[in-house]
Amino acid sequence: MGYVPCATKLRYMTDEHLLTEGDVNFSAHRQEWYKVIDGNTIQLLGEDADVFMHQSLSTPCLDVIASCEGIYITDTAGKRYMDFHGNNVHQIGYRNQYVVEKLKAQMDLLPFCPRRYTNTAAIQFAKKLTSLLPGPLNRVLFAPGGTSVIGMALKLARVVTGKYKVVSYKDSFHGASLDAIAAGGEGQFKKYMGPFNPEPQNVAPPDSYRNIFGGTNDEKYADELEVLFKTDPGIGAFIAETIRNTDAQVPTKAYWQRVRALCTQYNVLLILDEIPIAFGRTGKMFAFEHYGIEPDIICLGKGLGAGIIPFAAMVAKNEYNIAADVSLGHYTHEKSPMGSVAATAMLEYIEQENLVEKAQTLGQFLGQALRNLQTRYPIIGDVRGIGLLWGVELVKDRTTKEKAIAAAEQVMYACLKNGLSFKVSQGNVLQLCPPLVITEQQLQEAVDILAEALEEASNK
Ligand SMILES: Cc1ncc(COP(=O)(O)O)c(C=O)c1O
Repeated sequence: MGYVPCATKLRYMTDEHLLTEGDVNFSAHRQEWYKVIDGNTIQLLGEDADVFMHQSLSTPCLDVIASCEGIYITDTAGKRYMDFHGNNVHQIGYRNQYVVEKLKAQMDLLPFCPRRYTNTAAIQFAKKLTSLLPGPLNRVLFAPGGTSVIGMALKLARVVTGKYKVVSYKDSFHGASLDAIAAGGEGQFKKYMGPFNPEPQNVAPPDSYRNIFGGTNDEKYADELEVLFKTDPGIGAFIAETIRNTDAQVPTKAYWQRVRALCTQYNVLLILDEIPIAFGRTGKMFAFEHYGIEPDIICLGKGLGAGIIPFAAMVAKNEYNIAADVSLGHYTHEKSPMGSVAATAMLEYIEQENLVEKAQTLGQFLGQALRNLQTRYPIIGDVRGIGLLWGVELVKDRTTKEKAIAAAEQVMYACLKNGLSFKVSQGNVLQLCPPLVITEQQLQEAVDILAEALEEASNK
């Protein structure tokens, strides 16, 4: 058996929209990668590719993982990777023992709670979560995953505003289900899927490196929103990531304050999707805290379940608690006691270990180390980020800013070979998202691996 790569698919590498979310799994570099994998793993990858539906970005897979701990995932051949991707679930590291012990106890007591009943774990967690958020944000719904929470938020926005049109960013991802892609903007997920009714209206996201208005001021990006809000009274929600996870785009405070004011002025609900970036990632518990604004609805997930339990939450303003006659979620695993225990323990661990502050200080260290690489390697066009979320944008030429797509893939696979895992987004942005439990020494180790790969790519 074994996985036989399909050479004809390589043409899709020219399809740039496929590269927005992550590196593709049928590129020439991926085929080369399979040559350095051991026979047993190739056998397993083949079995996986034979039984799972193939889809972009996931199956066929990169490697077979056997275990994980802290910042590492380990494959079946015993090779360890520092995981700087982790699908954003690993803020407190993998297999965190503080959480595991609490979950074991919950397993022995109440692992599941049927809908129509509640449980103390869920109540306690809901109270804990809302205690961390600004006062008005105190109505919670849980769901088994981030995409489902996005769906609930969109439904709630319709109930609250009586309007059903949504604005989002171009190339935005808010989950892969039909309702989530109908709100988002990423071509990768929309191909073959339309039409959507209504089509979401997409505005350009603030971009500090390729500012379409020139200069560094990103406030002008809000103009497009204002025009839309003014001309279309049917718009009920603006959904956006506060800080874009995939390419680590960090808007200015002026931008977000203006957007917040516009949403209020035009009765448009501001739904912030912090599914990948909440819980300390950006150096604050929630990313919106950097901006002195409050969302109307916040969507949370991923690391919420501590990298163990699939768990997500929507938190909305108390005044929106007006949908008692419809089902917004109705999920089988809604008030999950296991999810609630994992989430409570995750937050306790973050607090006990001061991981939010740690993300700030380690983020400064990582940012400086990456900027040092930028002075050494002209291929690095931009280094940007906040807390422990960083993007390193590779270009062929710093003046034209032409994307160095092949080089980005080459760097990624060279790093994988040397035990550092991350993903590439937008085709040329190395996205670095390490667990918050990482040490400075481990960060330096990762930077050294990256430097070696950049050196190789620069000499090609
Ligand atoms: C910004 C954003 N929103 C929503 C989701 C969907 O979350 P989930 O895959 O847990 O459903 C993701 C997942 O990657 C995401 O990055």
